[in-house]
Amino acid sequence: MKILKTQVGIIGAGPAGLTLALLLRKQGIEAIIIEHRSREYVQARVRAGLLEQNTVDIYKSLGVANRLLKEGQEHHGVYLSFDGQRIRIPFGELTGGRNITIYGQQEVVKDLTDEWIAGGGQIYFEAPATKIENFDTDNPKIYFEHQGEAGIMDCDFMAACDGYHGIGRKTLPSDTFKEYSVTYPFSWLGILAHVAPSTDELIYAYHERGFALHSLRSDKISRLYIQVDNDDSVDNWSDERIWEELAIRLGTEGWTLKTGPIFEKGITPMRSFFTDNMQAGRLFLAGDAAHIVPPTGGKGLNLAVADVKHLADGLAEYYQQNSINALDNYSAIALKRIWRAQDFSNFMTTLFHKQDEHGSFTYQLQKAKFDYIKVSKAYATTIAENYVGLPFEAFE
Ligand code: APR
Ligand code: PHB
Repeated sequence: MKILKTQVGIIGAGPAGLTLALLLRKQGIEAIIIEHRSREYVQARVRAGLLEQNTVDIYKSLGVANRLLKEGQEHHGVYLSFDGQRIRIPFGELTGGRNITIYGQQEVVKDLTDEWIAGGGQIYFEAPATKIENFDTDNPKIYFEHQGEAGIMDCDFMAACDGYHGIGRKTLPSDTFKEYSVTYPFSWLGILAHVAPSTDELIYAYHERGFALHSLRSDKISRLYIQVDNDDSVDNWSDERIWEELAIRLGTEGWTLKTGPIFEKGITPMRSFFTDNMQAGRLFLAGDAAHIVPPTGGKGLNLAVADVKHLADGLAEYYQQNSINALDNYSAIALKRIWRAQDFSNFMTTLFHKQDEHGSFTYQLQKAKFDYIKVSKAYATTIAENYVGLPFEAFE
């Protein structure tokens, strides 16, 4: 039996778990991470890649932003398109200079893992947590397996950063929280392609054939998405069909979409989910373990990072000032941002996806919103400040 002992036991080496570990190290607090999957698997998982200003600032403060600042691309605005008409929302003048950076989530995960290991951090891959015990005492335990051997991690606190399917949420007593869940009647087909982006900033588009998004990864790699039915399959989508559809949906006068070889295709369902409590005793949930947003607002990773920032602040107050107040307040403070992000992600999703027939009442409301963005600086500002992410002070 392998016995580990630490101050904070972290389950999951996604953005939430890794960022938490590094934030704790900076405060002189010990942590050990156990991760179900292999290092290769975790680092190859292709996901979104939009980092809010807050997230970039945290990574700078942790000294893990070198590659992000070099290879990531800072964007000062975003294009919104409706029925072929494209407008731009400038972030600088509407948000007092806040921006977003485009940098793939799996690159973030690589950088964080490298930093954790380089600083002597303990991390066990292929080590699934199987049971969480004693969260309501000061001697919590995480049971896990590693290389065929059973293990126990004894800790002061447990952070379940174990994603939507993890065991953290399942361990929270069911009478301590309520779950909210919406499944949208559409999914995203996402691609990565070897082609220079046809745009300098992201384009979100409503089209009568459905939503499309043009994002990017580098000068040579583009990331694009289209709305498909929930029961659709990548087998129905040849490269040619994907490019044709993207060109139509993203199209606007005088603009052409460059095409190239597609090297990754995947379908992601669209869901809004969250629990209205993220803690019980010495067990804390963070990131996808507690909430999922549809990717239309680009908020998933940023919410995970904001959660663990609050959690690390609470743990630092506990160890340095012997006060449990900030930890007790963890859910309440994290949930303010989570509600805001749920609303914004739902707003972006319903504004740009085809939900009903072209010309229907729903369509007319979508169009009315787009037409209003064009004439109202106040409305454009609302979108800009949510998109780049509200500062931490806004919710404290
Ligand atoms: N034991 C150990 N590890 C586990 C267990 C378990 N029982 N269950 C799940 N895990 C691991 C998963 O293998 C995964 O690597 O927890 C990790 C959770 O990572 P993510 O799913 O990336 O979640 P999170 O860190 O909260 O990051 C949120 O990821 O899903 C995206 O869009 C989302 O960008 C957002 C970000
Ligand atoms: C991405 O680049 O993968 C991306 C960007 C913005 C989104 C979703 C995904 O809203």
